[in-house]
Amino acid sequence: MIFTVAIDGPAAAGKGTISKAVAARFGFRHLDTGLLYRAVGARTLSGEDPVEAALSLRPEDMDADTLRTTEVAQAASRVAVLSEVRAALTEFQRHFARAEGGAVLDGRDICTVICPDAEVKLYVTASAEVRADRRYRELSDKGHDVTPGGVLEDVLARDARDINRVEAPLKPAPGATIIDTSEMDINAAVDAAAARVQAALDAL
Ligand code: DC
Repeated sequence: MIFTVAIDGPAAAGKGTISKAVAARFGFRHLDTGLLYRAVGARTLSGEDPVEAALSLRPEDMDADTLRTTEVAQAASRVAVLSEVRAALTEFQRHFARAEGGAVLDGRDICTVICPDAEVKLYVTASAEVRADRRYRELSDKGHDVTPGGVLEDVLARDARDINRVEAPLKPAPGATIIDTSEMDINAAVDAAAARVQAALDAL
């Protein structure tokens, strides 16, 4: 079976948790596409050219733990405005989406650019304050040295860059189901996404 669940939305809206839970529930593979941009961003922090980095991305660049800092997140959102960087990462994502077995991909342009024909398209969002608060707790729990105000600033700066860029800007795709998690707990959000996936599977 080839079946793609495409999930877009701004930083810290709950995409990652929803994607992992949906993939586990249905036995699908999962790709967090933000990690690709973070890996490219991290390599530019050590002086590398972003396009060169994107063209030569290696599995060992994708260590999720070291890529979770706000510094790398900002670098990711800066390299993500470059059309040559996006182009270098497109084929890998499309191949992952259409390989046998079902796949969940989450990012900013999965429904709009990478997989416009996905069987399920979701746009997961929440208010900037709720998202910043969640990200602050997550980072401080992991021992990162962050402040609530600093995390909100980071979220707003990335939103602005991701939404206003010319190439593949963040926006809900036509036909995407919008899940606003501002006032939902995470289980309810996962259930809403899973219900949408089940309905699409039942309709096959
Ligand atoms: O989802 P994340 O916070 O790990 O993403 C980091 C940055 O990467 C984000 O600010 C914008 C960029 N990104 C993108 O442009 N397109 C994607 N599909 C995923 C992430």
